[in-house]
Amino acid sequence: MGVWSACTVLLIPLLCGLSHGSPDLGLDISIDFVTRNNPNIQSAAGMVSITTSDLQGAIGGYQLAKLNGATNLIVSGEALISLVGNITVNVNDVLRNISFVSSNKQTAPSCMFGSMNATMDRAFASLDQASTLIMSIQTSTSSQNTGALTSWVMMIQTAMTDISNYLDQLYKGVAAIVASGQPLTQFTIQENINQAVLFNLAGAISVVTTAEKGLTTTVRAIRSSFEQSGNILNSYSNDLNNALNSVNNTQRDYYNQVVGRISSYQGKISWEFGWGVTDIKNTLSRVNNFVFDQDTSQAAQQLNISIGVTNTAIQSNSVIIQSSMQSQMTQIFTGAEAFVQTNVKALLPVIDNSLFGLAATMSEGGAFASNCNIKYGGAIKNLENNMRDGLQKCFNDYANTGYTDSFVSEYNMVIREQTRTISNRINFCLNLGSNSSPKVIKLGIAACLAETVALSEALMKDVSIQSKLVVAMINLESLAMVQRVESCAAILNHGLVAKAAKLDQLLATCQTTNQ
Ligand SMILES: *[C@@H]1O[C@H](CO)[C@@H](O)[C@H](O)[C@H]1NC(C)=O
Ligand SMILES: *[C@@H]1O[C@H](CO)[C@@H](O)[C@H](O)[C@H]1NC(C)=O
Ligand SMILES: *[C@@H]1O[C@H](CO)[C@@H](O)[C@H](O)[C@H]1NC(C)=O
Ligand SMILES: *[C@@H]1O[C@H](CO)[C@@H](O)[C@H](O)[C@H]1NC(C)=O
Ligand SMILES: *[C@@H]1O[C@H](CO)[C@@H](O)[C@H](O)[C@H]1NC(C)=O
Repeated sequence: MGVWSACTVLLIPLLCGLSHGSPDLGLDISIDFVTRNNPNIQSAAGMVSITTSDLQGAIGGYQLAKLNGATNLIVSGEALISLVGNITVNVNDVLRNISFVSSNKQTAPSCMFGSMNATMDRAFASLDQASTLIMSIQTSTSSQNTGALTSWVMMIQTAMTDISNYLDQLYKGVAAIVASGQPLTQFTIQENINQAVLFNLAGAISVVTTAEKGLTTTVRAIRSSFEQSGNILNSYSNDLNNALNSVNNTQRDYYNQVVGRISSYQGKISWEFGWGVTDIKNTLSRVNNFVFDQDTSQAAQQLNISIGVTNTAIQSNSVIIQSSMQSQMTQIFTGAEAFVQTNVKALLPVIDNSLFGLAATMSEGGAFASNCNIKYGGAIKNLENNMRDGLQKCFNDYANTGYTDSFVSEYNMVIREQTRTISNRINFCLNLGSNSSPKVIKLGIAACLAETVALSEALMKDVSIQSKLVVAMINLESLAMVQRVESCAAILNHGLVAKAAKLDQLLATCQTTNQ
């Protein structure tokens, strides 16, 4: 590259307005090498319409691969389109100018070179940019293709320089005839202008169109390998997207599972605690019978108050457990989700890398491209599916929300036993007699009720400690669960990264050895 970037652009002094008007190319129809004999300028330049349409056809309808993440393929594809555009538009405008002038047989003075100056400048400016475009194309194609592109474009550039030279000489010859006062005719042209100038001009034009034919073949080959790569990338990125969606669906299922568990546990707790409260409350009407009796009044009133306090305590413990369970389980989901998504994010570039490696194999358009695709394309799909299945397994096996079942059940049992102990104890006291029993019995009942208040207070302290324990266990277990999901995903991640690295090596080897 760069060999041909430093070209001397000869500006043809295509001046309008010589004393006798501008020299024209559209000389008499029968001049040798202009419209007659082989090669001749008119037929050589006339080829421009066919070569232009062939070359445009080589990229016609080419859809650039538009994929997630940047890939060289987009930049290279755009460069290929620009290169073809610059040649079919800017370079070929010069040939179209020559073709127009020669086939319209305009005679002097018509000033027909006037508008060729700028066209010629644009053509050389485009050719100067071509090396940069080829460098962009090179990143996605084989060195053979790049070599072919470079040599076709160099050939075009050399021939364009020749065209510029010969037009200049032609102009000088015509200008000399005009200056000598002779008319511009077939005879004066043949006498005064070296036939080699006309012959070589026609030849140089032919070289441009011939090189464009060669370029067409190379562009077709590159385009088709780019499309092949684009298709591969599209197909695997669709698979990848499906895998990611699938991970997200698992995540959503898991979220629903967490929400379901929370409400089911909350339901169980409030059910059991509710029954505990009801058991105790059911004793109230009988306790009240003793409030109005002098012998039992004080103890019964204290118990009445104690029952209120106990029930409030039970309910408040129930609320504490339920809300800390909800917040812990929500945190489990958030923790597991964050970790899984972090893993997805970490794995994506790794998988993309293998994908781009395979796509590069295809766009290199090498002899082994299709075999390497057959051989390793499946491995990339496996990589994507392994990621999906692996992350799903981490969720399903290690983020199981069923773990709290035993805590909740045991805790419920403890609470139920304690509330039953209280209600049984109250009923026991009340069954000792009634407010019409003898005083000694009623004093016994009062003593029994007073002890129940103490018992109830002791048990409630226990319930409060139990609640704290359960909350601590839920917290610890949820931490452990997130850690299990994390280590599961981390192990998976290492495995996939290693597999992808191995796959990259295999792909690279396949590109050169077909193995
Ligand atoms: C063509 O180029 C010559 C040489 O650079 C310049 O003198 C002339 O003005 C140009 N003519 C037009 C029409 O641009
Ligand atoms: C010529 O190439 C340039 C980039 O070098 C690009 O921007 C431009 O669109 C191309 N021209 C045509 C006519 O395609
Ligand atoms: C030369 O080509 C340019 C660009 O297409 C055009 O504007 C101009 O009219 C052409 N001149 C002749 C003499 O064909
Ligand atoms: C998956 O969900 C995460 C949020 O958890 C989101 O950022 C990402 O865009 C989703 N991916 C797909 C493919 O829907
Ligand atoms: C029992 O205690 C409640 C407050 O907890 C009180 O409102 C109610 O009047 C008491 N009943 C009797 C009979 O003292």
